[in-house]
Amino acid sequence: MPGRRRKLQVAALLLLFCVCSSAGIICRAQLVDQFKPADSYLVNCGSAKGTTVSERNFAADGAAPLTVSTPQEILAGTSANGVSSFDNSALYQTARIFTGPSSYTFPINKQGRHFVRLYFFPFIYQSYDLSTAKFTVSTQDVLLLSDFQQPDKTAPLFKEYSLNITRDQLIISFKPSNGIAFVNAIEVVSVPDDLIADVAQMVNPVQQYSGLSTQSLETVYRVNMGGPKVTPNNDTLSRTWLNDQKFIMNPSVTKKVVYGKTIKYKNGGASSLTAPDVVYSTATELAASNTSNALFNMTWQFDVDAGFSYLIRFHFCDIVSKALNQLYFNAYVGGFFAQHDLDLSEQSMNQLATAIYVDVVLSSNDASSKLSISIGPSTLNNAFPDGILNGLEVMKMGSGSGSAFTVGSSGSKKILAVIIGSVIGVIGLLVIVLLLVLLCRRKKTDDKQHSKTWMPFSINGLTSLSTGSRTSYGTTLTSGLNGSLGYRFAFNVLQEATNNFDENWVIGVGGFGKVYKGVLRDDTKVAVKRGNPKSQQGLNEFRTEIELLSRLRHRHLVSLIGYCDERNEMILVYEYMENGTVKSHLYGSDNPSLNWKQRLEICIGAARGLHYLHTGSAKAIIHRDVKSANILLDENFLAKVADFGLSKTGPELDQTHVSTAVKGSFGYLDPEYFRRQQLTEKSDVYSFGVVMLEVLCARPVIDPTLPREMVNLAEWGMKWQKRGELHQIVDQRLSSTIRPDSLRKFGETVEKCLADYGVERPSMGDVLWNLEYVLQLQDADSSTVSDVNSMNRIVDLSSQVQHVGALESISMTMAEAGASHEPDHDLSDVSMSRVFSQLIKAEGR
Ligand SMILES: *[C@@H]1O[C@H](CO)[C@@H](O)[C@H](O)[C@H]1NC(C)=O
Ligand SMILES: *[C@@H]1O[C@H](CO)[C@@H](O)[C@H](O)[C@H]1NC(C)=O
Ligand SMILES: *[C@@H]1O[C@H](CO)[C@@H](O)[C@H](O)[C@H]1NC(C)=O
Ligand SMILES: *[C@@H]1O[C@H](CO)[C@@H](O)[C@H](O)[C@H]1NC(C)=O
Repeated sequence: MPGRRRKLQVAALLLLFCVCSSAGIICRAQLVDQFKPADSYLVNCGSAKGTTVSERNFAADGAAPLTVSTPQEILAGTSANGVSSFDNSALYQTARIFTGPSSYTFPINKQGRHFVRLYFFPFIYQSYDLSTAKFTVSTQDVLLLSDFQQPDKTAPLFKEYSLNITRDQLIISFKPSNGIAFVNAIEVVSVPDDLIADVAQMVNPVQQYSGLSTQSLETVYRVNMGGPKVTPNNDTLSRTWLNDQKFIMNPSVTKKVVYGKTIKYKNGGASSLTAPDVVYSTATELAASNTSNALFNMTWQFDVDAGFSYLIRFHFCDIVSKALNQLYFNAYVGGFFAQHDLDLSEQSMNQLATAIYVDVVLSSNDASSKLSISIGPSTLNNAFPDGILNGLEVMKMGSGSGSAFTVGSSGSKKILAVIIGSVIGVIGLLVIVLLLVLLCRRKKTDDKQHSKTWMPFSINGLTSLSTGSRTSYGTTLTSGLNGSLGYRFAFNVLQEATNNFDENWVIGVGGFGKVYKGVLRDDTKVAVKRGNPKSQQGLNEFRTEIELLSRLRHRHLVSLIGYCDERNEMILVYEYMENGTVKSHLYGSDNPSLNWKQRLEICIGAARGLHYLHTGSAKAIIHRDVKSANILLDENFLAKVADFGLSKTGPELDQTHVSTAVKGSFGYLDPEYFRRQQLTEKSDVYSFGVVMLEVLCARPVIDPTLPREMVNLAEWGMKWQKRGELHQIVDQRLSSTIRPDSLRKFGETVEKCLADYGVERPSMGDVLWNLEYVLQLQDADSSTVSDVNSMNRIVDLSSQVQHVGALESISMTMAEAGASHEPDHDLSDVSMSRVFSQLIKAEGR
């Protein structure tokens, strides 16, 4: 323990309950700055000598004042090499083996909370193979491990309990169930009394939970959000905090934040003992702000044992706001509200960068084997979509005396949780049916056959590059949003990069001109789009357009990395997309077929990109030419939307350009737009619906060689969808692997997108949401359907269904676009207007 010793200021133990909002936060004053544990036993079991681990001295086994009672004790050791890769490896080199019921006795100087930590690593010693050991560990009052067997024979296991010890001595007993028991190291260390309060808020039903002070707790997860792993020597209470990355379900909607200044601790909030500074000074933040992601929760998922109650402690510290009262968000545990519209400023007594924590209890009725923790944007009006989490502790609750933590040796039984009453009416029925269907399904393994065999192929659409953000000319391109025009290339540089605009390097052609593959001197691949010299567009408009384009940055948009306006050229330089167009992976090429999950992920990526175009800047940007040839795939098959340079900001219609403004591709064209020349984001939604069908059926959207009723995919697809037989026309390579409920939801989403009138169609955000759900349905396997996670989805679904359900009353007729047009050889690639179109200045929306 640290030598510097300040006065123990525990005396106050101010229990200021500043009950906040409906959910109630427990804020307690903690005046303790430094902490000197009254009891501190660190035992290196099985060893005749002590060892130092993380600056902490573990004493030799059997040293006074602790006593060991064991009928036959064996001090065992293994080689240092065998354990060297583990944290605290020195502790795992030795073990005490028990051949009969045995115990360690620790005198307790000060009653109250203690951490009891147990270290196990099964090695082979003489005739003892510790991995065969099966045993029970208990104290006088609490069963810690019951018939415990090491789940993973090759890795150490660490267990931490927090017990309120109300006796003068603690006896930890080991009882072999079939031969031997063992332990490598033990810690018994005092914990500040006020670390765990007596009360917390239950999430369902919302009510106060009291009685925590006598509860036995087992730490199952302790996580430092957005920050490094914290080892015992960096925490006054010698706790280990893991990084959260591996628990995040949707990393793309999160970002890490690190705060360089001092964290404040105030009475009524957390103390520096609640969690170390490094926990509060880093966080995972919703990468919301200006992108599509604003609509999403960030979610961490933890495997836990179902059937137990859990105490969940959120650690918060507003290290992101520039001013008070700007950060509002919601926190959820297992799909239930843990905090509504949490305002950290209010909780931390109007100081930024001040640590607080919130304790909630999830009852055993609601805990399934996957515990999900979410932070999502507040629904308060005007709240800027954001949210953070700095740290999280998940503690399994035993009960008071005689409590038991039965620890499943490996995968715990999934418990079917039943929801009744929360879901009402038709929607409820729908959901339950869905749940049942899911339960009855067997998980089918994903078709991964292509993952290793993907090959580069010739690109027949517009395309482009990896992340080349640096050129060989020493100029770092701005990838942020502040770069005004991106990088200005010299003409001769592009000439060289494209082998003097070599016709053999053309990877795409359109009315605007050609797209060339290019290689810069530093080997960065680029796609060079050279405006047709005959283009009507003036240079000024060209520059205006570049300015707009270079401000659009999104993971799912093909990035513009530069331009060239020398010699009246109008050239745009894009990132090169290794895997070409989505279309080329669906039909008409030798590319291996994509499986359903890959296709869904591509749709989701593209939907994200479009959603960003629609909502990411003050004025919506309408793509106007959404099609499978405009969705490109990078080397990792990440989908990015291309060609939004053609986009106009919407939704106003430029009256002077009516005749030429109709743009888009046959087969994808919004019939409403076609009829009324009315351009809205919903035109993109329509086209995206057609893309979804194309992805499902893997055929051209207009195929004049087919019988008349089949020519137009949108019409053909909707015909089957309306009959409820969409499966009849699914790409045969997929049909055996798509789960019916996934297909059903997909079909419904397509149908909504293809609604005749824009107002009836969902927003891109809704489409995105639905697609993620479709993916979940595909992923779900019968044993996890009862998970918290799927329950969240069900809750989500009901609101979603209500939302779109309202639209169903209006009859949907199929779009007449396409079939009435003169069929031509695969018209879907033909853009109806120039690329370098003039931007329409849209008024505020
Ligand atoms: C431990 O439990 C006793 C009651 O058995 C209670 O009075 C005491 O406050 C508890 N200590 C802590 C630190 O919760
Ligand atoms: C942990 O402590 C060590 C010194 O004991 C220090 O070098 C290291 O930076 C600390 N790590 C963190 C994450 O604070
Ligand atoms: C996001 O939008 C807000 C307000 O609309 C603006 O203040 C902020 O600068 C934007 N952030 C970025 C990274 O563009
Ligand atoms: C976040 O998750 C909660 C609980 O699962 C859900 O009710 C809520 O609708 C989600 N919010 C968003 C924006 O997805």
